[in-house]
Amino acid sequence: MDKIIINGSKRLNGEITVQGAKNSVLPILVAALLVDGVSIIHNCPMLSDVDATVTILEYLGCKVEREGHTISVDSTDIKRYDVPDNLMREMRSSIVFLGGILGRMGKAVLSTPGGCEIGLRPIDLHLSSIEQLGVNFKTDGGFIDCSVGEKGLTGTKITLSFPSVGATENIILAAVLAHGTTVINNAAREPEISDLADFLNRCGAKIHGAGDSTVTVEGVKRLTSTEHTVIPDRIAASTYMIAGAITNGKICLKDIIPSHIGPTIQPLREAGCDIAVSGRWVCLSSPPRLKRIRMIRTMPYPGFPTDVQAQMMALTTVADGTSVIVENIFESRFKHIGELLRFGAKISAEGRMAVVEGVKHLNGANVKATDLRGGSAMILAGLCAHGATQITEIHHIDRGYEEPEKILESLGADIKRVKEDAKTEQSERGTQ
Ligand code: UD1
Repeated sequence: MDKIIINGSKRLNGEITVQGAKNSVLPILVAALLVDGVSIIHNCPMLSDVDATVTILEYLGCKVEREGHTISVDSTDIKRYDVPDNLMREMRSSIVFLGGILGRMGKAVLSTPGGCEIGLRPIDLHLSSIEQLGVNFKTDGGFIDCSVGEKGLTGTKITLSFPSVGATENIILAAVLAHGTTVINNAAREPEISDLADFLNRCGAKIHGAGDSTVTVEGVKRLTSTEHTVIPDRIAASTYMIAGAITNGKICLKDIIPSHIGPTIQPLREAGCDIAVSGRWVCLSSPPRLKRIRMIRTMPYPGFPTDVQAQMMALTTVADGTSVIVENIFESRFKHIGELLRFGAKISAEGRMAVVEGVKHLNGANVKATDLRGGSAMILAGLCAHGATQITEIHHIDRGYEEPEKILESLGADIKRVKEDAKTEQSERGTQ
């Protein structure tokens, strides 16, 4: 198992390009199942979650080729409509295969994804939505067995009780080739939904309003081959901006979509950072001491993203004053707090609320990545801490960040990835 070692307290300085969006590329790769022919998708980040998605596509019968950051998916010969339990468990978001496989094959057998490190993550909204589109399903022994009824997938009006990102994607995927028109009310508005719709529309789909609360999908007969470039990753961009801020540094992100990171820019300005936006550039300059952020509440887009909550919490641990963070999206997304305390942070939490009292500086610590974004918060804390930090269980980080140590090193961080010595690992285990 790899680990990350950081010698902290180095100001970051420089400019970087941000990877393609993980949360866009996953549903877009699934959408390629619906296409009659080959989809060529550019700007795919090299991440273990992308690998897991490709493995499932290949299992289903797609021919997948990768060259650098471009993935081509040939869906001509799909034969299977099931996803085995071991592949589903690799990644909670594989539930989005439900809409893609149903749209293509008319039936699907998937294992239920179950809870994960950040919460229970039920799929009731996904199931009730596809049922409204004319799908019969039964759940048994941890599997969902779905098949399209006699009339086929049929457009309808669906009102989501919560704007779930995954449920919105599943409805779009199941509706593009359905008979008639589907209207989704209270749809998720995340930029990744718009990116999925852009890809599908290039293939000949008729999706209107993606990015707004009401999305309309007029069913079409077939989708044809296209090329598409995935949008930049707003969560990775936000993470690197916070890396600049927490090290009192000066960094620029190039070729990003600034409006997508607006919800992160606003609290960073409150913390005293000077942020200039120009075209597809954003430059951040951090003050010698960050100020507290009065209140951060995670909300569906365009609110503050839950996927940046842990990173912003790392920043507030060294800000002057008391900050309050409320997690409204996932019920147990505070696992990183225990690890941040190891750095000497002062945080108390109850339920969905955390109160962070900023300290002058953090001290390097031995910590673990508790989950993907919690893991990136450990990197951020390590970058600003005095002394050495060691982060283990970094496979969580590799799910969503492409070579973060190389990017941060290019900005002046003293950070490296090391292979855990097999012998040391064994002897450490032996002493436990
Ligand atoms: C997606 C993102 C994830 C992000 C999240 C919220 C991907 C691959 N993942 O996850 O990074 O943190 O959006 O922005 O795009 N819920 C239900 N029932 C359902 C579906 C969801 O109760 O049927 C709940 C979830 O448990 C959670 C909340 O709704 O508490 C938000 O979930 P959702 O928007 O669906 O997130 P994901 O699509 O899983």
